[in-house]
Amino acid sequence: MNIVLGVGGGIAAYKSALLLRLFTEAGHKVTVIPTEASTKFVGVATWEALSGRPATNDVFDAVDQVNHVRIGHEADLIVVAPATADLLAKAAGGQANDLLTTTLLMARGPVLFAPAMHTEMWRHAATQANVATLRSRGIHVLDPAVGRLTGPDTGPGRLPEPEAIFAAALALVPGVLVAESATTDAATTDVATSDAVTPVPDTAAAVANGAAALYGRHVVITAGGTREPLDPVRFLGNKSSGKQGVALAESALAAGATVTFIHAHMDVAPPAGATLQAVETALELRSATLAAAGSADVVIMAAAVADFRPSNVSTGKIKKRDNVADPVINLVRNPDILVEVVAHRAAQNQRQLIVGFAAETGDAESDALGYAREKLRRKGCDLLVVNEVGPGESGAEKVFGQDANRVHILSLDGAAPVQAAGSKRTVADAVVELVAERLGPG
Ligand code: CTP
Repeated sequence: MNIVLGVGGGIAAYKSALLLRLFTEAGHKVTVIPTEASTKFVGVATWEALSGRPATNDVFDAVDQVNHVRIGHEADLIVVAPATADLLAKAAGGQANDLLTTTLLMARGPVLFAPAMHTEMWRHAATQANVATLRSRGIHVLDPAVGRLTGPDTGPGRLPEPEAIFAAALALVPGVLVAESATTDAATTDVATSDAVTPVPDTAAAVANGAAALYGRHVVITAGGTREPLDPVRFLGNKSSGKQGVALAESALAAGATVTFIHAHMDVAPPAGATLQAVETALELRSATLAAAGSADVVIMAAAVADFRPSNVSTGKIKKRDNVADPVINLVRNPDILVEVVAHRAAQNQRQLIVGFAAETGDAESDALGYAREKLRRKGCDLLVVNEVGPGESGAEKVFGQDANRVHILSLDGAAPVQAAGSKRTVADAVVELVAERLGPG
């Protein structure tokens, strides 16, 4: 496959050297087009040596071959990494003043931008409008990863890791087979890495080993705990840390999936390499999940959704007053998002696998698994991952905020329950394996 790798002028340009290695070792021909600014970070010699091809951003090089037309037309895929705010603006505005921007206008195949910039620049209305414009034209723009940036600042703006960009890019081209030699040993080359690294899944290795069981699949994962506001400073929340949802996303990414990660409040950082969407309340989570579910092969509802929300949200802070009765909070029921996702699938006649989570306690009437089986029938999802909650033998909390977990995975079709125990990642891998088994080859 012919790939064009556009490199923007940001410190993260060095990571694109690793991305380039992943592409070339997977057997693809890569033409690198570095912007002039990017050559202040990584020189043209590096791109030419690693790609084995000329690397220029000058439309007046190789004029006899009408480079800007030829390269764009011949590209099966264009990846721009890092995509700076400036490059996103130029692409959204249709500018064509160098080889990279003209090539983007000539593109016939899929185009993927992997942005990297400071959080303020990413969140700026101008950048967000440019991203929205590009996405509305069918161009793929990854959300930046969250983590340490070049200076002392931390937040969304990091370039997603090369393995994640590699998997996201190849997933855009149907039927691309990754050559046996694609390994992540690029990740161990001596290219300097200066910023802190959020752990990322070894997608390329998984793809190369044929272990990418979810390669080309779109997985939507909800995570964290919703917060239902009472007034501008108070909310009803829950103990969910988001750790299990993050582990699921990392496991799905490692299996080659593209992941949309919709998260309410979490105590941990969201996963690198996923498209992130932050929400607060159950109603926001519902809108985001139903919108994303339309294109999903798998929906995993790991979020702890508040069943109720205050019927009234006070616009001012609720005050205590000596001569006035203490407030009573009235609650109304939130929609059951999992049930709605199942109904949405049926209405769309969609082939989709839906996984629910349940935290259960037993009592005198039934044990936790009995309640879980009943919940699985009521919700109608394909798999239900059941945690027993409440104090463990030592009196310590068993699930929420803990690093390890123990679950039973029940199937609606009556298949024998599967048990998994260990780290949240071990549990996530068991869920992802079952999901992949049921989906079969893509
Ligand atoms: N869930 C949902 N929408 C809700 C409540 C729960 O989508 N309003 C989803 C959760 O994300 C989870 C599953 O349903 O995947 C089960 O959550 P749980 O809280 O155990 O179920 P409830 O329906 O709230 O049942 P219970 O009455 O036992 O609290």
